[in-house]
Amino acid sequence: MPAVHAAGQIPDDVVRLVAESRRPVVLTGAGISAESGVPTFREVQTGLWERFSAQDLATPEAFEADPALVWTWYRWRQSLIRAVEPNPGHHAIAQWQQRDGVELTVSTQNVDDLHERAGAAVLAHLHGSIFAHRCYECGIPAQLPDAEYDGFESPPEAEGPPQCEHCGGWIRPGVVWFGEMLPADAFEQTAAAVRAADLVLVAGTSGIVQPAASLPLLALERGTPLIEVNPEETELSEVMDHCVRGLSGDALPTLVRSR
Ligand code: OAD
Repeated sequence: MPAVHAAGQIPDDVVRLVAESRRPVVLTGAGISAESGVPTFREVQTGLWERFSAQDLATPEAFEADPALVWTWYRWRQSLIRAVEPNPGHHAIAQWQQRDGVELTVSTQNVDDLHERAGAAVLAHLHGSIFAHRCYECGIPAQLPDAEYDGFESPPEAEGPPQCEHCGGWIRPGVVWFGEMLPADAFEQTAAAVRAADLVLVAGTSGIVQPAASLPLLALERGTPLIEVNPEETELSEVMDHCVRGLSGDALPTLVRSR
């Protein structure tokens, strides 16, 4: 069973574990961007999408059934992400990575660029990038200008995706949908980093979506210390050594402060 700590009361030995780590791996999910204003995948949706959960929209079947609905959802999320800023959780990770003597790997399930905008180098975006596009049929990448939605207001109507200039297929977002394979390099590189890590910190993920949720278990096999930062208990909590119950924007700056 993990030791559970409130974000404002992280014991010194946990802070020391972080401070003394030389090869930490940080695995993040939607929760780390929540305080920036990017809704997680479990939140209720509004406007055009109120009858759908985010899970319902993130599938090839949903795109085939209603390309405009799914395309507009991703384009609107792009506009939202462009309009928000990294939060103290992203900044804490970037500062930790820049510390002398620390080789910190960041791997995220998030399709946003908030880690990078905080100044962190990201080894892997396990579920792709919302800013990349490719043809749904032939797979050829497509360059598109940024979407021009107001990311805070649901658009009045859905607009269909553009067509591929090579084959005429629909253009799709460069994200991984349920039922699709993760980019093999991203997964393998993260797995290798976790195997070589001396500490694994998991922040802001429900630990529900596989195979990303299996990555922390590679640390477990090796006895590497595992720390979770999340306001709620998750599917991964029981394998953790320490669970810090709080928002990542509060907990991470405390956890990774220099000693
Ligand atoms: P989820 O939306 O499943 O879970 C978000 C997690 O973040 C939950 O455990 C929340 O308790 C936690 N959380 C919320 N606010 C937080 C905060 N301020 N600080 C820390 N944690 C917070 O997101 P993921 O686990 O990332 O995949 O979801 C995994 C995948 O499911 C996504 O990448 C996406 C989704 O469907 C695909 O689209 C394939």
